[in-house]
Amino acid sequence: MSDSRSPRRLLVTGGAGFIGSNFVHYWCDAYPNDRVVVLDALTYAGNRRNLAALDGQENFRFVAGDICDRSLVDQLLQAENIDTIAHFAAESHVDRSIIEPAAFIQTNLVGTFTLLEAFRQHWDKERPDSYCFLHVSTDEVYGSLNPNDAAFTETTPYAPNSPYSASKAGSDHLVRAYYHTYGLPTLITNCSNNYGPYQFPEKLIPLMCINSLIGKQLPVYGDGQNVRDWLYVGDHCEALDVVIHRGVPGETYNIGGNNEVKNIDLVQMLCQVMDELAPQTLCSKDDSAHEYSPQLPVRPCNKLISFVQDRPGHDRRYAINATKIKTQLGWIPTVTIEKGLHRTVEWYLTHRDWWQPLLSKEYQEYYRQVYVQKGI
Ligand code: NAD
Ligand code: TYD
Repeated sequence: MSDSRSPRRLLVTGGAGFIGSNFVHYWCDAYPNDRVVVLDALTYAGNRRNLAALDGQENFRFVAGDICDRSLVDQLLQAENIDTIAHFAAESHVDRSIIEPAAFIQTNLVGTFTLLEAFRQHWDKERPDSYCFLHVSTDEVYGSLNPNDAAFTETTPYAPNSPYSASKAGSDHLVRAYYHTYGLPTLITNCSNNYGPYQFPEKLIPLMCINSLIGKQLPVYGDGQNVRDWLYVGDHCEALDVVIHRGVPGETYNIGGNNEVKNIDLVQMLCQVMDELAPQTLCSKDDSAHEYSPQLPVRPCNKLISFVQDRPGHDRRYAINATKIKTQLGWIPTVTIEKGLHRTVEWYLTHRDWWQPLLSKEYQEYYRQVYVQKGI
């Protein structure tokens, strides 16, 4: 972006989670004169350590708190003179939404409503160009595609199938309504499956990396033929930058990775990368000391692949048509699935100190609930 831009003052909700923390690092590097305030409730998915490297920087502040807490949000918007909300905070995992949907309704719907209401009271209607409410959403709101269906565009009708995607669909509708009703300068992005550093161990790619490293089975749901369009998180952050700076208020932009892959093919690719990198990669314990990672417990890794009972209501295929953001805002993804998987496996190999503590008692309990009933 141009050097002549005025500094912004951002509130990043969910900034201690996977995409949010990548975004905060990206933004603080790209725009050191901007103020970045993170509001995050530090649920099981939030990790304060994701942002530790920014502690002490003058332009960065972390606030532990809930987006549903209206007085806290009001106070932050006012005290920090926020002009831009980048809203990532959410309950984000479909499998958890099947077990316990209530938190999804609370955070994704009530939380988004709370932020919208607070921003509506806060923004200056006389200067609409100075404000922005970016709502980060998902392609899952569009439902499931058959193999030969055209990819989702921004006008594909909503047809969510899980409590997660239904709650995100509801939040998208609220954001849309606040633009149409109150003129609030909102932007919505619907992106495909992200992957990369700092992703919580229970999502597909980190789960496969970590299970390979600890010699646990690699559970593939159903027949493994479900298709996702994988987006490297660094590409996603660049897309959000472009949308914040050049997006037209009230508009929606689809963001995809141009990487449609069947789950089983993705897991096989991951296993190959793991076989290739695992014995040679350095594990960093801290900044000064390094040690070689242990040999893989099972080699080749794909011996660990195990087909398990399918997820209920499992969407067959997601695919994003990202022509609008390409033609109108000039963004395209640059990281191929091969390059992205290589980077991601390398990250999990060298950050055992990050993921090991996350395999807590709570995580084991979650794992037992989801996978034991699936047959492993
Ligand atoms: P994540 O689960 O890794 O992180 C969510 C963050 O939100 C965590 O830090 C958590 O502590 C915080 N949070 C949860 N409830 C909160 C509350 N009530 N108040 C404040 N903070 C709260 O999620 P992610 O994968 O980083 O996803 C970020 C956003 O992107 C979500 O809105 C998600 O729907 C969307 N999205 C994610 C993907 C993906 O592949 N990960 C794909 C499409 C869209
Ligand atoms: P996930 O990372 O949960 O994202 P989403 O369901 O939001 O797309 O899962 C990605 C795909 O991988 C999805 O089709 C479900 C499948 N999957 C497995 O086959 N095994 C697993 O253990 C997990 C977590 C997911």
